[in-house]
Amino acid sequence: MTTAEGCQFIDFFCGAGSLNYGHNPPVVKQALLDYISRDGIQHSLDMTTEAKAQFLECFEQTILQPRSMDYKIQFTGPTGTNAVEAAIKLAKQHRKRSHVVAFTNAYHGHSLGSLAVTGNQTYHSEYYGSHNNVSFLPYDGYLGDFDTTILLEKMLTDRSSGMPLPAAVVLETIQGEGGIHVASDAWLQRVQTLCREHNVLLIIDDIQVGNGRTGDFFSFEKAGLSPDLICLSKSIGGGLPLSLVMIRPECDIWQPGQHTGTFRGNNLAFVAANAVLNHWNDASFVDGIQVRSNTLQTYLASIISEYSDENWDLRGRGMIWGLDIRRGDLARMVIDTAFENGLLLESCGSDDEVLKFMPALNIPEQQLRQGLQLFRQSLQTVFLESSGTKSALVPSTGSPIASLGSSMVVS
Ligand SMILES: Cc1ncc(COP(=O)(O)O)c(C=O)c1O
Repeated sequence: MTTAEGCQFIDFFCGAGSLNYGHNPPVVKQALLDYISRDGIQHSLDMTTEAKAQFLECFEQTILQPRSMDYKIQFTGPTGTNAVEAAIKLAKQHRKRSHVVAFTNAYHGHSLGSLAVTGNQTYHSEYYGSHNNVSFLPYDGYLGDFDTTILLEKMLTDRSSGMPLPAAVVLETIQGEGGIHVASDAWLQRVQTLCREHNVLLIIDDIQVGNGRTGDFFSFEKAGLSPDLICLSKSIGGGLPLSLVMIRPECDIWQPGQHTGTFRGNNLAFVAANAVLNHWNDASFVDGIQVRSNTLQTYLASIISEYSDENWDLRGRGMIWGLDIRRGDLARMVIDTAFENGLLLESCGSDDEVLKFMPALNIPEQQLRQGLQLFRQSLQTVFLESSGTKSALVPSTGSPIASLGSSMVVS
């Protein structure tokens, strides 16, 4: 990215996962120019258009058929949170139950229904979202090595657990905003089995870690799950706003108009989506994700060993990694310094203590390494400036580092 002043940045945040194929991919630009210049329809409410039909066919052939997946597709409003709203609404209607199970550290968006299943307390003052009809149970790893599906099973089976039988369990296979917590395959499989046994729908929110982020198109492929409902957004639109819910056919009990909205399925986003979905027919693209993943993991692991006194942790898979440096204030300083050095980085976790690495899936290897070097350099600067003493790491108000960031415009 280049600012109005000509400063260059390498982007390790990628529009919070909306730019898995990079900024302004040439194939997207060309497809959009072609579509606009032949006067393709831009707005069509939720009517069928050529662009929509082509997207559905491309998605079916490129993504669903090779994986033997049979799902209906519902286009919701263009934000991820609207797909989550639709999935929860449908699950409640389908199961005729009002309760939902969500997990600690979950993040599902900022409209009221999605906030209700989001863990972080920041979002739950009495006038800013509530947990009505939601039970939060511990995610995998929340209680160390304890298998938290034991608790889920107990809560579902014990008639005195105090938890109503839920319509659905909603989860991310890797919690993105919550701090890059990776659920094990065994845990995910057990949750799915419990859902099936108790006639509870399983909703996978693949908004952040779907679209190839983990190496496979869907994040749950490695665990072999077959969720009832799947929420997709962010990179599905090739950088343009598009969200959808994939629905197992027998769960589709929607009546016309039950989840309506003006902007459901954006034609330009369909065109962009078609252009990027083609990557999934290219084995070198898919293999390349694994190669870059190895580079990321190896590099970050070497940083962890350089700072071995700090008790840091590295978590992730594919092209999403979190370096848990245990302190939100320190993470903030590293991010601000990285910004000064030309690297866009973000943090996540309950105290914003986890530095998050999610470059484009197809970032050139050399740019990836350059970004990682900028990160290492930024980390060193923060440690040097603080003279290695932890108390000195707390930025004073008005320090040049603390005040950087939001004032710069990136074009
Ligand atoms: C897992 C997950 N679900 C839902 C959302 C909400 O998406 P949006 O911000 O587009 O509403 C996000 C956004 O970061 C997300 O990471």
